Amino acid sequence: MTSRLVVLISGNGSNLQAILDACKSGELLASVVCVISNKANAYGLTRAKNAGVEAIHFVKLENETRQEYDKRLADFVITKQPDYIVLAGWMRILSSAFLNHFPNRVINLHPALPDTFVGTYAIERAYEAYQKGEIDHTGVMVHLVPDEGVDDGPVLAKQEINFIQNETLEDFETRVHKVEHKLLVQTLKNLLTDNVRFNP
Ligand code: GAR
Repeated sequence: MTSRLVVLISGNGSNLQAILDACKSGELLASVVCVISNKANAYGLTRAKNAGVEAIHFVKLENETRQEYDKRLADFVITKQPDYIVLAGWMRILSSAFLNHFPNRVINLHPALPDTFVGTYAIERAYEAYQKGEIDHTGVMVHLVPDEGVDDGPVLAKQEINFIQNETLEDFETRVHKVEHKLLVQTLKNLLTDNVRFNP
């Protein structure tokens, strides 16, 4: 059975692209049924359109609270009947007004190991910590999102990444993204193997 994925993004969407490619090649027995961005100019929306996938800029209305936005977002996502909702560079905290609708169905990717460098600019901050001699490795992880904790929740997969001497931040970032693309697809593959269809 082909699983249904909704992917939430805020930017470039290289991880979304990895998922789209894996769906197309058959590596993932899934299809991305909708891509949603909270940012109008997210390049990931173009990637979605190029792949023939519905691409939505989900605009925050004036005076709308976080809970109201999240409830409206959940109501929209429910109409897509997703098996999983993948946060692939979605840089906005989701409240229980969204998460309570999708227990064990929301998956987040974060470019750091559990309990390290939570939030934004994790790659840059890890690189800086290495330059200061504070760490010799970092990593990436994929985890479930049970509540409003930032980049926190039951870990589904993680992979360590060692620093390389004299590597530029740009090269390091490229290396991290390559690891992310593989880990995210592999984790989804593992989850979908035991997929149970979601009924809202
Ligand atoms: C990825 O590195 C992802 O791990 C990170 O945003 C980037 C999105 O890249 N997410 C977080 O930092 C979540 N806290 P992409 O748009 O090219 O997929």
